[in-house]
Amino acid sequence: MKYTRTLILAVLILLVTACSGQKSTTVGSDAELEKRIEKLLSRMTLSEKIGQMNQVSAGGEISNYAEALRNGQIGSILNEVDPVKINEFQRICMEESRLGIPLLVGRDVIHGFHTIFPIPLGLAATFDPALVEEGARIASLEATAQGVRWTFSPMLDIARDPRWGRIAEGSGEDTYLDARMAEAMVRGYQGTVLDTTSMAACIKHFVGYGAAEGGRDYNSTFLTERQLRNIYLPPFEAAVKAGAMTLMTSFNDNDGVPSTGNTFILKDVLRDEWSFDGLVVTDWNSMGEMIAHGFGVDRKDVASKAVNAGVDMDMMTFGFISHLEELVASGAVKESVIDEAVRHILRVKFLLGLFEHPYVDVAQGQAVQYDQSHLEAARRTAEESAILLKNDGVLPLKADDIRTILVTGPMANAPHDQLGTWSFDGEKSHTITPLQALRERFPGKVIYVPGLRYSRENRDRFDDVVAAARRADVVLAFLGEEAILSGEAHCLADLNLIGSQSELLAALKAAGKPVVATVMAGRPLTIERDLPNCRAMVYAFHPGTMGGPALANILFGDVNPSGKTPVTFLRTVGQAPLYYAHNMTGRPYNGETLLAAIETEAGQTSLGNTSYYLDYGAYPLFPFGYGLSYTTFSYSGISLGQTVYRPDDILEVSFTLSNMGEREGTEVVQVYVRDLVGSITRPVKELKAFERVRLDAGESRSLTVRIPVSDLAFYGLDGVKKVETGDFQLWVAGDSASGEPVSFKVQ
Ligand code: GLC
Repeated sequence: MKYTRTLILAVLILLVTACSGQKSTTVGSDAELEKRIEKLLSRMTLSEKIGQMNQVSAGGEISNYAEALRNGQIGSILNEVDPVKINEFQRICMEESRLGIPLLVGRDVIHGFHTIFPIPLGLAATFDPALVEEGARIASLEATAQGVRWTFSPMLDIARDPRWGRIAEGSGEDTYLDARMAEAMVRGYQGTVLDTTSMAACIKHFVGYGAAEGGRDYNSTFLTERQLRNIYLPPFEAAVKAGAMTLMTSFNDNDGVPSTGNTFILKDVLRDEWSFDGLVVTDWNSMGEMIAHGFGVDRKDVASKAVNAGVDMDMMTFGFISHLEELVASGAVKESVIDEAVRHILRVKFLLGLFEHPYVDVAQGQAVQYDQSHLEAARRTAEESAILLKNDGVLPLKADDIRTILVTGPMANAPHDQLGTWSFDGEKSHTITPLQALRERFPGKVIYVPGLRYSRENRDRFDDVVAAARRADVVLAFLGEEAILSGEAHCLADLNLIGSQSELLAALKAAGKPVVATVMAGRPLTIERDLPNCRAMVYAFHPGTMGGPALANILFGDVNPSGKTPVTFLRTVGQAPLYYAHNMTGRPYNGETLLAAIETEAGQTSLGNTSYYLDYGAYPLFPFGYGLSYTTFSYSGISLGQTVYRPDDILEVSFTLSNMGEREGTEVVQVYVRDLVGSITRPVKELKAFERVRLDAGESRSLTVRIPVSDLAFYGLDGVKKVETGDFQLWVAGDSASGEPVSFKVQ
């Protein structure tokens, strides 16, 4: 009797621990949990262990997978979001398989589930981690309510080439901003305490995928270890420290080694240096693609390379399920390697409470979708992500002065495309477009003549739209690119507004009425030639379900825009790659002679030349961190607490921020630092802090930003991460190209 009581007590403790979602110190390493893992692992056959390492895209009929589920041959499914089907998948696992191990159900919930938020590049433009975390939490509430417990997000790929279609899916060009956004999304998806509303985050694509040569997706990268450690790895490390439970390998080969078979990044860095004990999954068939890469001879070979490099789960190559037993039998793969992979998988499943709660309440799950509070958060996020690039004073529009508004352009009423790339579960029926929002706000005042019904349509309708413009008091042109023109594999070699959109804008301007352009896109397009044809331009990286109301609020001044560019805007695609945190080079550009000033038969000289383009110079159209407001801000009294610091000091920079205008506004204060001389050359500046500061009209506020001097550490010539002594400069400004530096030393 006594034994039974003890056993019951032990089980109760286990259940309470598991259900309470008690977060252990790292992704999952408290003693009780480890005991559960070992106990289950010890009962598993080799075949069942390998089954856990097999992920299958299961959007089809359940009957196709039922036998494999009963035999424990599938550990995870992706691309099923019907809660009834997911419950049935789980029931087969829990009730008909030998060990009753629940499935891990994954989905690309990238910027919202049903309620779609701005694409991640737009999320980054908010420079508002708290808001982005709120959005990720909402995505998790909606997705987990339908049985999805794993999202293949956040994507942390730093992108410095806007030709790359997936620039849309990440947080832009900057390491520091990327890391803050990564932490926010991991916290949002997983929650501060793991429970049934938690979705395991999946940080991807590990690593360097966004540095694809030529901005062409899946292309090779050639990043040195120092570039990896100083630029591309830090956001992943930050996300691991934030508790990210899973990670996905990338398609690219870096310096000849495909990530899915790269022991250095998957073991030396991820496991040994960062102590990551979560789950590593391949990208879709990225294991199989190592054959095409020329890194393996066949599926058995690449399966062996992947598992020995540190991959735990195979997405859609079926390499593990087909060959691992044979590879273990031959000794090419040790069973201990399989055991470690399965521990990572079981750890995530136990932590998510899937053994206790494998099912969802279907009715309750429906009630959560599109909750009013979710839509309101999506609207706020779309408002904060909008970037005011140009304004001659025409914005904010004054409704009382306007009798007729012409709404035009291919993105004015594009409910599907406004959602942007990777919005699988977004439903266009719930999208509110700018046209819908403006018609609701100004009944009877809006005329809608698209001019172009889609971006690449011919100009047959231009006469109609120009005639309509002449009848209007203001023209609101919504331009850009459809969702499919960015995203995976959708790269562009020409970044001008596609089709005849620029011609449409010019024709509208010629009609003689004020034209305000709003661009919705998945990337920074080269819009320099369009700026003269509009009095103002708002840039909205595909703003999601509530993009319409958000943009209407911006254009008519209910909301003062505060978005900042998370990526450099080029003057022309030929400047790519171009980013603010570049090295100085031995011949920094100084704004010198351009093509127009070069006379014929000019003599050649090698003296005094610098690094630039004769035709476009070397400056961007808009720098990183740039964005206007309906007011103006000034920075004054920038001073450092001291001018000499030790590596373990906290640097304090104080300044006064003033709102010089007649309306409230929010400024994204940015702090950049430059290490003037190092054991290796260092960027001309790097973002080390940012903060959104809201000021009333005329308000001035004294502020202090604190930065640990240790944040200035980098991997130098000796491969050791440290702060190097010497001279530094620091800027406090509203973008990466403004402000005057103050100096300090580290000794
Ligand atoms: C895709 C993407 C990856 C995504 C996965 C599952 O190919 O590269 O980001 O999570 O497959 O859809």
